[in-house]
Amino acid sequence: MRISVSDLPVTQLEAEALIMVLSKDAGVPGLWQPLDDTEAGMISETLTSSAFSGKAGQTLTLPLRDAGPARYLVLAGLGKAEEVDVESWRRAVGSGFTAARSRGAKSVAVPVPESSDIAASEIAAASAEAALLASYRFQEYKEVPDDQVDVVALVIGSGDPAAGEAVSQATTVAEATCWARDLINRPGNAKRPAALAEEIEKMAAEHGLRCEVLGAERCAELGMNALISVGQGSSVPPQLVLLEHGMEEADEPPVVLVGKGITFDSGGISIKPSLNMGEMKSDMSGAAAVVATMRALADLDVRRPVVGVTPLAENMPSSSASRPGDVVRAFGKKSIEIVNTDAEGRLVLADALAYALERYEPACMVDLATLTGACVVALGSAAAGLMGTDDELCEQLRAAGETSGDRVWRLPLWGAYDELIDSDVADMKNSGGRYAGAITAAKLLQRFVGDTPWAHLDIAGTAFTKKASAYQPKGGTGFGVRLLTRWLLT
Ligand code: BES
Ligand code: MN
Ligand code: ZN
Repeated sequence: MRISVSDLPVTQLEAEALIMVLSKDAGVPGLWQPLDDTEAGMISETLTSSAFSGKAGQTLTLPLRDAGPARYLVLAGLGKAEEVDVESWRRAVGSGFTAARSRGAKSVAVPVPESSDIAASEIAAASAEAALLASYRFQEYKEVPDDQVDVVALVIGSGDPAAGEAVSQATTVAEATCWARDLINRPGNAKRPAALAEEIEKMAAEHGLRCEVLGAERCAELGMNALISVGQGSSVPPQLVLLEHGMEEADEPPVVLVGKGITFDSGGISIKPSLNMGEMKSDMSGAAAVVATMRALADLDVRRPVVGVTPLAENMPSSSASRPGDVVRAFGKKSIEIVNTDAEGRLVLADALAYALERYEPACMVDLATLTGACVVALGSAAAGLMGTDDELCEQLRAAGETSGDRVWRLPLWGAYDELIDSDVADMKNSGGRYAGAITAAKLLQRFVGDTPWAHLDIAGTAFTKKASAYQPKGGTGFGVRLLTRWLLT
């Protein structure tokens, strides 16, 4: 989809469909008045009738007769005026875009108002982002229907001089998010650790990131026995992929991002029930978010050192798989009793965090992982769980979550939770049982990050969805890419 910014009046925008975003029970906004005039008051009449109230999620498509290039006007509701924020805009534009596309429009324009509580450039950026995210389809394995229409051009209507730059940045981030979705939606047989590592290497070469892949042998030599144990049931060995951005010219320690990359999580010997097990192809969503964020940072030429670390493994049952009761020594020699082979995420992350800590001496570390069903129980799909040792870092992430649309909500890491992962035979065990499951998982990770400011995002409930919403089709969401880029850019 080609994306451009235009300061032409709405009646002259070159697009088959115009999306008119407006709040509940509002009249025709000023910038749309010329169109209402050429259409003989058709828009204002529609707004006074009961056909469209402007409540959140509502759309109404109207044919245009005399409006120049546009054939359709799609009304898209923002909800109550006093509750409107950037996310309301994203959702309205996402719904409006989908409505326009279903009418067969190949080009769509979203005019943005000059003055409101939110800066016009910010609304422009959010609109481009939402349209791109709503336009996403995963079609690597399905024949494209003959009658499928794709929107090839998007025009953001804005006279704000800052709109061009803001839209271009949002485009880069949204495209990276869609790439993360591709990786997540791809089936487990197409992204086993070696294949996924190759895919990441290819991206790194194309976008100018330094990439290093540590094979299983190297990982074993280094003492990453927790990662090795998770992958040992699979016929394809685990890998650790490192992406570096801005490290050569850096005069400060890097930010390290770590992403859980279980390419398929069967549970191992502690096998999962078969119902919905297929969704566990998405258990590498943390890794997808990290590598896609690295891609966006490279494209945006962000001037700060950032390292992405992704431990990749396939968690499978076999005669070579790790057994419940096994004890492994992670990188740095702490021992872990594996009481449940399905609590594998914290094992691969423990090695990755400990290794990154020693190798990079980072300013801070943030990890993302589809770590626990308990986090889904606690927060559902509205927010990821945020846990961390550093209040300032956690506050920065919370704030970036509010503005980016990838929301997070904090859970405590009090010392009282520590004893839940004490083990009779090792330094710790990899499961603390059912209670406070999201927290005890984070508690294990905390033991591998030293004193470095660290935050953990449990994205189990936000990474993958079975229900489409305004700008999010079914499947992988790419959660974390918008959050991390927003955080790193502010
Ligand atoms: N990948 C799962 C967590 C998960 C569950 C992600 C649902 C997305 C949706 C993780 O590896 C896992 O199996 N966790 C266990 C931990 C338990 C055995 C302590 C869980 O949450 O049940
Ligand atoms: Mn698991
Ligand atoms: Zn898992």
